[in-house]
Amino acid sequence: MTSTEREFITGLPKAELHLHIEGTLEPELKLRLAQRNGVDIGQTTVEQVQASYEFHDLTSFLAVYYPAMNVLVTEDDFYDLAMDYLRRAAADGVVHAEIFFDPQAHTSRGVSFKTVIDGLWRAVQDAPSLGVDAALIMCFLRDMSAESAMETLTASAPYRDRIVGVGLDSDERDNPPEKFAEVFARARELGYRLTMHCDIDQVGSIDHIRTVLHTIGVERIDHGTNIVEDPALVAEARERGIGFTCCPVSNSFVTADMKGDEIVQLLHDGVKVSIASDDPAYFGGYVVDNMLALAEKKQLTRDDLALLARNSLEISWVDDGKREVLLARLDAYLSEQ
Ligand code: HPA
Ligand code: ZN
Repeated sequence: MTSTEREFITGLPKAELHLHIEGTLEPELKLRLAQRNGVDIGQTTVEQVQASYEFHDLTSFLAVYYPAMNVLVTEDDFYDLAMDYLRRAAADGVVHAEIFFDPQAHTSRGVSFKTVIDGLWRAVQDAPSLGVDAALIMCFLRDMSAESAMETLTASAPYRDRIVGVGLDSDERDNPPEKFAEVFARARELGYRLTMHCDIDQVGSIDHIRTVLHTIGVERIDHGTNIVEDPALVAEARERGIGFTCCPVSNSFVTADMKGDEIVQLLHDGVKVSIASDDPAYFGGYVVDNMLALAEKKQLTRDDLALLARNSLEISWVDDGKREVLLARLDAYLSEQ
């Protein structure tokens, strides 16, 4: 792919809808925060941090990911983390970012919900000054109990207006969606939008996808490309306009490939697939890198790339007035090409 294609992709106004803010902790910031907070992470150089990034599946990735969060302590830490990401997102042509955060990964080590949300919210408020809008999605850790998720949902109540929706992440093995059916039902009553991870090639992936569509009632699925195993479910997802947030670079770290065939098949089948970066500081690719990697591997056309950007805006949780404005920006960009 030529540098012109990178430029074309960068210029596409797009939404990023699958981005774990804790997964944007770049080695430089990790070391700076470790020093600022007097936290010994056992590494003092970027090279040492990078050398510790050894993972081959979701579980081994998470084993590196969670301990690194010990450097996140103060409200300013969360603010700096989010602002660093938002600067990179803006440079990638992201006009709207829906950012996942994992309160339990912080409250479980003594950092208060308030500290986390106040820091992230300050960044959301400052995002427009960088040329990007942002929103927050609170994720529950599926390898913790449903009771803990419910407590976290309750703790979020005072901040309801700062959080657009809820999701579910962490280790899917032995933690099926139905474990959180009540939590998600309650979240829906509270007015939260719903999404859930259905990670790649998990034991029972297709059953989990069926459950999130039929029982939980999500609007979007994060990853979820195993849906191609059941054509009837694909047809249903298309008819219901279910959004999929796919992360090719991350896929190629935690499984044998980027699942490009599946992503392209769903896109061409009319399913609302978008591309995002998941945990870019760990997998080494922000959203443009993800779109480029897929485009190169699967010979995507500019129409394909424009459709991925359009889908991201269509399945985002902005209000409809804002969506029209963003789609008009995309159309204007395409008509200039
Ligand atoms: N899947 C599950 N948990 C996660 C992920 C993911 O892609 N990224 C960060 N936590
Ligand atoms: Zn994810």
